[in-house]
Amino acid sequence: MSTAATVLERCAALGQVSEEPDRLVRRYATPAMRAANELVGGWMRDAGLEVREDAAGNLIGRRDGPGKTLLLGSHLDTVVDAGRYDGPLGVLAALAVLERLWDRALPYAVELIGFADEEGIRYGTTFLGSAAVAGRFAPAWLALTDDGGVTMAEALREFGGDPGAIASAARRPQDLLGYCEVHIEQGPVLERRGAPVGIVTTITGQTHAEVRFLGEAGHAGTVPMNARRDALAAAAEWMLAVESVARRRQGTVATVGRIAVEPDARNVIPGEARMTLDVRHTSNAVRREAIADMRAEGQRIAAGRDVELDWDARGETAAVPTSPDLTDLLADAVEAAGHAPERLPSGAGHDAVQMAALTDVAMLFVRCRKGISHNPAEAVEEADVAVALDVLERFLGALR
Ligand code: GLV
Ligand code: MN
Ligand code: MN
Repeated sequence: MSTAATVLERCAALGQVSEEPDRLVRRYATPAMRAANELVGGWMRDAGLEVREDAAGNLIGRRDGPGKTLLLGSHLDTVVDAGRYDGPLGVLAALAVLERLWDRALPYAVELIGFADEEGIRYGTTFLGSAAVAGRFAPAWLALTDDGGVTMAEALREFGGDPGAIASAARRPQDLLGYCEVHIEQGPVLERRGAPVGIVTTITGQTHAEVRFLGEAGHAGTVPMNARRDALAAAAEWMLAVESVARRRQGTVATVGRIAVEPDARNVIPGEARMTLDVRHTSNAVRREAIADMRAEGQRIAAGRDVELDWDARGETAAVPTSPDLTDLLADAVEAAGHAPERLPSGAGHDAVQMAALTDVAMLFVRCRKGISHNPAEAVEEADVAVALDVLERFLGALR
């Protein structure tokens, strides 16, 4: 029987598949993603699934059945210096359950998807893989470039995908029964409640932007303090303003996760500072108000320092409620497995956000150690993964 130990061993093996030797990073359409698809595709084939890749590079394993199709899955890409469970755990837990059920008839077909991009690290986007499946992939994204100047279209072609045929990856709602995703919680709530698994109620909405302050580079020794147009000093002031806007609006989280300075030298006043902004809230209205305030603060700070502000909105996803019907079925499965059906919102984004535009979605969270994620210290207990497998098996057995 496929066990939690198998799932953890596979997560460990996949955790070795990286673009870099000393840390885990597996971005969209890279050779490391190719190797990941080969490895997981091999396990899918061994499990008797019919394996293919769609035009966006998503890996799909199908088990035939009558009627509609249930989609299971999560993502196979990672952040930079990632843990090994964010994404892969959901794919490999679902695979283990399909292995367990290989000789049991189900009244529906199942497809397990390893999404090719959820984290959006390479192109400053998110959910590329699930957006394609949901029919929400914007063709303009193909022209975005990575840090090396490679367009998404070039990278995808090199990967073996087909940028011209992304629309063919989209699924039809009428063919689908729903989508269910297992994922580590990535926060401390389940640990605090002493629960191995939890059921997601809502997935938070997010807004991303690339924000630039443009000043004037100059000599660090000769330009008086009152004559400077220092882009980095403006950025520093704005980052603190972002923090206080988020603190003022309860439940808002805002992160400047990346900053680059030009020309980036000790004795040159920075002429340009570029940052990423990530803002989230379970209420779309509160998130939008917070973003408007952050932008207004940027304009105020830029005017006060005689620098320019350039605000490049990189997209937003609305907060998504999970489906009451699928979620209740998942809660029944948790109870049948002998646990209280703890419910909680998700502050992280998930492929389920895109899939919700297509079909009913449900998510099962697995407790993660100290709530640590997006960090190599990410960890789960084998016993908790065993509960997740038990729950998912019961859920699949009860679904009609
Ligand atoms: C994905 O992990 C996200 O929430 O940014
Ligand atoms: Mn993540
Ligand atoms: Mn994830």
